[in-house]
Amino acid sequence: MASASVETTAVLTATDVADVIRVVGIDQFMDDVIDGVRCAAEDLNPETTMTIERAGFQYEKPCLGLVEWMPSMELGRAVGIKTVGYHPSNPNQRGLPSVMATTSIHDTGTGRLIALVDATLLTAIRTGAASAVVTDILARPDSSTLALIGCGAQSVTQAHAISRVRPITRVLAFDADPLVAESLADRLPFAVQVEVMNSADEAASQADIICTATTVDIGAGPVISEAALLRPGVHINAVGADFPGKTELPMSVLKSALVVPDEVSQCLKEGESQQLAPSDLGPDLPALVQAAADHADHRNGLTIFDSTGWSLEDLIAAEIVLEHALHHEIGIHTELQHTPADPYNPYELL
Ligand SMILES: NC(=O)c1ccc[n+]([C@@H]2O[C@H](COP(=O)([O-])OP(=O)(O)OC[C@H]3O[C@@H](n4cnc5c(N)ncnc54)[C@H](O)[C@@H]3O)[C@@H](O)[C@H]2O)c1
Repeated sequence: MASASVETTAVLTATDVADVIRVVGIDQFMDDVIDGVRCAAEDLNPETTMTIERAGFQYEKPCLGLVEWMPSMELGRAVGIKTVGYHPSNPNQRGLPSVMATTSIHDTGTGRLIALVDATLLTAIRTGAASAVVTDILARPDSSTLALIGCGAQSVTQAHAISRVRPITRVLAFDADPLVAESLADRLPFAVQVEVMNSADEAASQADIICTATTVDIGAGPVISEAALLRPGVHINAVGADFPGKTELPMSVLKSALVVPDEVSQCLKEGESQQLAPSDLGPDLPALVQAAADHADHRNGLTIFDSTGWSLEDLIAAEIVLEHALHHEIGIHTELQHTPADPYNPYELL
């Protein structure tokens, strides 16, 4: 990582993040985050890289939502903390994204705030990247038809990331809101045939790869029914379940698949794995990547990535942006924190 100034904090707004991605190129940036997540999983050393299950406040008033924090640490270097809000009524009622986030990066030598980065787009990109890492290991190499169940913000980066690792030529789109499915083609950053489907099962049954990324209500799942006739060897990235009681896949599908959780304890609490016992789970994301060759046979069977969001992904994505921002002098670099001449005098600036 490029080193930041000793005194200043880099503040990277949404526009700054977009400027960085424009300079790097959207495909190259996605490839860099995919590589970043893959390498972090492959090289993971629990003695030096630590992540903590996310925690926070979940509430039903004034509307269903949560604000949570997702910490990770590279020992001797940096702590990343993403704060993230999830408010599924935001798009329709307030014109805001369902998921909004900010990542702070702190120097573990001093505790100083190195950077504050808008992480709304980065969350979508790193979530797509994590799906791509697992898809690359578990989906058949010739997978070309992708079903997107839920066509909101996450579906765009799911499709983009998966198109970087598999030759996707056809996207089957289903959303509970038909207008959202119909607008998907205009939001995708690559050329592909998009067909709007009448049901989740219709889309899922024709796909080689499925991504579920819905804001289905707690207790209202699954979004794919037990009756869906899934193709043999289909790989599913289940991205939407991230709340106790919220699930997208039916138990029968989960029970017959290799299930790869991103973060085991978090998935058992909030992911599809809520419906399973710990003994039903396959390798977690790092274990899968570390033994990728051993799992090649699973490409012929049903496989599921239970994605709830791994906090290290957020530090990786924010550091990639920060490095480019420092190199290209993008963003505000300001003395946000007090750096007094006399560290014993907190009133010095008064
Ligand atoms: N795994 C992760 O790391 C991760 C990261 C970010 C977001 N998420 C989760 O992914 C989900 C989607 O997020 P988003 O930002 O795309 O939200 P969004 O609001 O942009 O889009 C969600 C879409 O799902 C649709 N939907 C709701 N219920 C449905 C159903 N039963 N069938 C089909 N479509 C349905 C909605 O109409 C909406 O268009 C959320 O639950 C979010 O919390 C997970």
